[in-house]
Parts: sequence; C-alpha cells; structure tokens
Amino acid sequence: MEPIESIGHSQSKLQAVLLTGVSGYVGGRLLKLLEKEPVVLRCLARNTAKIKDFVAKSTEVVQGDVMDRPSLEKAMQGVHTAYYLIHMMSGSKDFEKQDRQAAINFAEAAKNAGVKRIIYLGGLGDDNTEGLSPHLRSRHEVGKIFLDSGVETIEFRASLVIGEGSISFDLVKTLTDRLPVMLCPRWLTTPTQPIAVDDVLSYLMAAKDLPPGESQIFEIGSEDVTTYGGIIREYARQKGLRRWLIYVPVLTPYLSSLWLTLVKRSSFEVGRHLIEGLKNPTVVQDHRALKVFPIHPMSLKEAIAMTIARS
Ligand SMILES: NC(=O)c1ccc[n+]([C@@H]2O[C@H](COP(=O)([O-])OP(=O)(O)OC[C@H]3O[C@@H](n4cnc5c(N)ncnc54)[C@H](OP(=O)(O)O)[C@@H]3O)[C@@H](O)[C@H]2O)c1
Repeated sequence: MEPIESIGHSQSKLQAVLLTGVSGYVGGRLLKLLEKEPVVLRCLARNTAKIKDFVAKSTEVVQGDVMDRPSLEKAMQGVHTAYYLIHMMSGSKDFEKQDRQAAINFAEAAKNAGVKRIIYLGGLGDDNTEGLSPHLRSRHEVGKIFLDSGVETIEFRASLVIGEGSISFDLVKTLTDRLPVMLCPRWLTTPTQPIAVDDVLSYLMAAKDLPPGESQIFEIGSEDVTTYGGIIREYARQKGLRRWLIYVPVLTPYLSSLWLTLVKRSSFEVGRHLIEGLKNPTVVQDHRALKVFPIHPMSLKEAIAMTIARS
C-alpha cells in the first residue's frame, strides 16, 4: 500500500490521520468532523462494507483488525496521528486479554511506522481504588500500553458519554423509558461525571492539534458531578415521565441482570461489563483539561436536552 502522505502532490503536506472504530458510536461521529479538516483521512475497519457508504469519497477505507498485526502495519504507513476508539467488550469472553493484545499490536505498529501521536479515549476511575471493575481496569491498561510505547499518546478518560446511540446512555434511557417503578441497585448512587458526546468530540479533535510534547492523560467531564440515579431523574424530568426509584441495600448480580433483560440483545454483553463498572466512582480529579483546551463542557441538563432534541 502506498503511504498516504504521498498520494497526490496537492495532499503531500497534509497531515495523515488514521481513524479506527468508525462503525462505532464515537468513531462514527468523529469521522464526520475529521472529514471537514484539511487532513488525509484513512479509516481502518474489520468489515469495510459496513462503513463504505458512510464515508466521504476523499476518505480512504482499509480492511484491518487490531488483532491482525500485518493489517495494522500496512494501515499505519505514512500516518502522523492515529485514533484508537476500540474496545472488545461486545465479542470476547476474555475481553481484557484481547484488549491488551490489541493495544500492544496497535502501539508496536505505530512505533514501527513512525506515527507521531496516538489519541485514545478510555474510561475514568481511580487506579488506586481497590476493586476497579475489569472494564475500567482494562481501559486503563490499554492507555498505559500506549503511554509506555514510545509514541506520544494523548489519553482522554471519560465517564458515561451522553448522546443518542451511546450504549451506556442508551442503557439508562431504555430503563427509564420502560420502567415506571425501578428497584434500584446500589450502583445508582455511585458518583459520576458524564459528558456530552459533542464535548468528547471537541477534545478528540483538539488533541490532534496540540504542539508535540510529552504523553498526557486528560480527565474529562461535564460541570456536574451526579449519580446514575441523578441521570435517570434528569432524563425522566425532561421527558415528562413520572418515575419512582426505590433503593435496595444490596447490589445483587440478579437484580442487575433483570435490568439488562430490557436492553436489546446486541448491547447485552457490553451492558453487562458496563454495569460491573458502575460500582466505581467516575469523577474528574485532575482538572487540567479545562486549562489546556479552550473547551467548556456543557452541563448534564444541556447534554440530555440536546440528546432528546436530536432523537
Ligand atoms: N460510549 C461511551 O459511553 C464511552 C464512555 C467512555 C469511554 N468510551 C471509549 O470510547 C471508545 C469508543 O467507544 P464506543 O462507545 O464508540 O464503542 P462502540 O460503539 O462499541 O464501537 C467499538 C468499535 O470498535 C471496533 N472494533 C472492535 N473490535 C475490533 C477489532 N478487533 N479491530 C478493529 N476494530 C474493532 C468496532 O468495529 P466492528 O464494527 O468491526 O465491530 C466498533 O467500531 C472506547 O475506547 C470506549 O472505552 C466510550
């Protein structure tokens, strides 16, 4: 495959960007923003048919899989900035192992190809907390593999992303839409600091234009620290739904799995892992992102209003 920086003289000075996860929630939305930028854009997808009608003519689509190292080596040729917007929670029983291997493959291929920057969206959560859920532990491990790779890495850590189609927000939305009375597991009282998808996208876009420097982790969130119960209540309020939340003292896997029976089959596996993670507080502790980027994330109320208006 030809290095993309060399495709056509007119494009030779443009930065080449590799985007992954385009068939996914965040990647699919980032695609539309990157396509408006003066960059040469290449997307990597396991199933190119899934995205080929979705991308602009100027966007190159290559077949690849982060578990298949040679496909990554090819896709990285000539790339300046590579976005990693992938997780393995939907398919694999042993997703931690798969996510680890995928990150190693991606980091090594990026290093060998001379990629200048990896941008990754992972999860919030305190590394020092005992009992960090497998999901959050794995998201942090992926970030660490990139940070240790020798390729400059910008890792963002976010809690629940609010927006139509985001699996974690859809989980909250589906349950609230369907259940007038909810027997609530304890995790509904866990502190969290969600963020609107538009703000996540602004951070991901801005990261590509940071001056070269050291690898960094940025914790990002809206201005509101709330709980999952708080998100449900605000969503119900804006939709004009009367909902009763009855808290039960113990979290039982049975109770959580009952909730999940309402969620569509395709989201079940991911939902199960996400729910395990809801016992961990996901709150911004390091506020540096607000100083480094000219981005002022919207409130929970605004984020939910925006999502309802778009749905
Ligand atoms: N959504 C949220 O609320 C949220 C919150 C915090 C952080 N994040 C982070 O944001 C990132 C993206 O999340 P998302 O919600 O956009 O996920 P998503 O909608 O579930 O999409 C996951 C993407 O990963 C791709 N993928 C899976 N296995 C792959 C493989 N072996 N090779 C290549 N691609 C593969 C999928 O492609 P296929 O079509 O081929 O399956 C899909 O495009 C993740 O790192 C996640 O942890 C998301």
